[in-house]
Amino acid sequence: MVERIGVLGAGYVGLTSAACFAAMGHQVSAVDIDAAKIARLDAGEVDLAEPGLAGLVAEGTRAGTLAFGTGLDALAGRELVFLCLPTPPGEDGAPDLGPFRDALRRLGRILSPGTVLVTKSTVPVGTAGRLPGFLGRADLPVVSNPEFLREGHAVHDFRHPDRVVVGADPPDSPAACRVAQLYAPTGADVVRTSSASAELAKYASNGFLAVKASYANAVAELCEQYAADIREVSAVMGLDPRIGPHFLAPGPGWGGSCLPKDTSALLQAADAAGVEFSLLRDAVRANARQRARMVRAIRSAATGSPDGSLDGVRIGVLGLAFKAGTADLRESPAVAVAAELARRGAEVTAYDPAVRSDADGYLVVDDPYLVAKDAAALAVLTEWPEFRDLDWRRLAAAADRPVVVDTRNVLDPFAVAEAGFARVGVGTPMEVPDACSRPRLHPQALAGPLQQRSDRPAAARPVRRAGGDRRTGPGRRP
Ligand code: UDX
Repeated sequence: MVERIGVLGAGYVGLTSAACFAAMGHQVSAVDIDAAKIARLDAGEVDLAEPGLAGLVAEGTRAGTLAFGTGLDALAGRELVFLCLPTPPGEDGAPDLGPFRDALRRLGRILSPGTVLVTKSTVPVGTAGRLPGFLGRADLPVVSNPEFLREGHAVHDFRHPDRVVVGADPPDSPAACRVAQLYAPTGADVVRTSSASAELAKYASNGFLAVKASYANAVAELCEQYAADIREVSAVMGLDPRIGPHFLAPGPGWGGSCLPKDTSALLQAADAAGVEFSLLRDAVRANARQRARMVRAIRSAATGSPDGSLDGVRIGVLGLAFKAGTADLRESPAVAVAAELARRGAEVTAYDPAVRSDADGYLVVDDPYLVAKDAAALAVLTEWPEFRDLDWRRLAAAADRPVVVDTRNVLDPFAVAEAGFARVGVGTPMEVPDACSRPRLHPQALAGPLQQRSDRPAAARPVRRAGGDRRTGPGRRP
């Protein structure tokens, strides 16, 4: 059955939903307050670098199943209206529902009786029950349909969801059945719940991902102390279906537009309810510590000491986006690390395949080889696969000290070692040019052994261990 669908908010969630529903054959009207964005969409330009999205928008516009507008009036007469507005954190960490509430007040004046209001925005638990108050009327059925798509995979995740959640009170209300029916073409399991369960499930999922990633970072730190390798440990853990292989990769910390915002909202909700959610609180604290740990590792690589002065020290950064496959810099741990290095006096030059804009405190260049020029250290902060394929000999020749801190473990250790680089990973042994295979060296051994370039006779001079046996923990390999 063809539905007349309205979508309020044309961001990642709204635009993807609008384009995908239109591709399923529904009549979709998407509205956004940002007139410039709507003008670009009308002209066929999609700002978001989401694979497949621009094609679907073009297809829908051409077929007449997808239209854009700036006025809420375009949503009048729609049978289902999806709320896809942002809910950014307010000062206390709880989502700021101001813009959401304002839009609903205006929407309440124009929607036809019987219109089903569907919340896709991530909203505090209990919001569904407050919608009639926001709307100023109680005759519209409300349904919670949280969205779980990932940036960079938005269209794929919408079309092939792991699960679709449809929450309503009661869960089998006619409005909920109608929304569930929309997802039949995806073949996904539709989980029917109460509104509160649907709202909480979204936060609980993102909170769990944050805990899992922080756990992986903590295990990575242990690996460094006990000469284990997080890549091997994660592979073993991930084979257990109760654990699963995803979200076990260490890095400079987790970020993006959702995990930080949703963990702080969940903590705020726990506080408000008098529930001590120390597990999640510790995961958030551990995330801040992880960023600081990466800054120390880079500082150590560049100066020979975790406390060395960064004043005027050149550091090359590869990757700024919060993860590969997106240009999004929101809450990016890479940006936080680069900015902190710059704040401490380092001259930071950064390259990211998807980012061109300059940033506060550091320079963004459009050529990855420029970041290595006279650098005391390089740092890979986003896991773009193309960083593996860079000409690491060329980078070594340009650098002052050929050392790279690979915070995402994305590089080929052998290739960079062969090129003359010492590589420091997270939770992995350090690889040095004259020791591509075991025995391997602990990352902490980095402080000291590297000579300034002026002391090195040749770029490919092997980096050697300093201080003999640095055994500091049980199980340390020689
Ligand atoms: C997340 C959720 O995955 C998605 O379901 C929800 O709808 C929105 O929030 P997204 O923000 O696109 O999606 O990013 P995601 O791919 O989940 O990554 C979040 C952060 O965790 C990134 O900074 C990423 O680099 C980091 N991460 C991810 C790790 O540090 N280690 C991992 O193993 C996986």
